[in-house]
Amino acid sequence: MTKRILFVCLGNICRSPAAEGILRARAKERGVDLAIESAGTGAWHEGDPPDARMIEAAGKRGYDIGHQRARKVDLSDYYEFDYLLAMDLSNHTDLLELAPPNRTCDIRLFLDFAEGETRETPDPYYGGKDGFNHVLDLIELGVDGLLDHIEDEDDSA
Ligand code: 4NP
Repeated sequence: MTKRILFVCLGNICRSPAAEGILRARAKERGVDLAIESAGTGAWHEGDPPDARMIEAAGKRGYDIGHQRARKVDLSDYYEFDYLLAMDLSNHTDLLELAPPNRTCDIRLFLDFAEGETRETPDPYYGGKDGFNHVLDLIELGVDGLLDHIEDEDDSA
């Protein structure tokens, strides 16, 4: 069955929209059928496109994320997605605090699917260009690990 993945960061204009676009591109390349969205725990940027710096940095790597629009996490997300993937520990804590007891999703830290020690995708919003590229490096690793995990799950289903 098609797995449903929601990436979650704070503003939904930098990290989680990049993860959404990269997973969509890599899943297509690998022939894995997924439903992918992203959202923020905050509502400041609702309806906005991703940050122009992230659109540019992602575009240079071949990922087109300019059409995506920010939204806030909704209670229904806890039932409509299989995985809610937090970009950092604070996003993870916020998701758990809002979680209804009868939720049907798994709430995980995204980079726990990546090989390596780094667990958090740092917020690049107040930094320079390097921060955006570092985030993209981490997301590419995490997405590959996540797809390996999903393919293993599908094989054993
Ligand atoms: P994001 O980055 O959580 O990766 O989308 C941020 C974007 C905006 C803000 C904070 C983080 N903000 O405070 O507006």
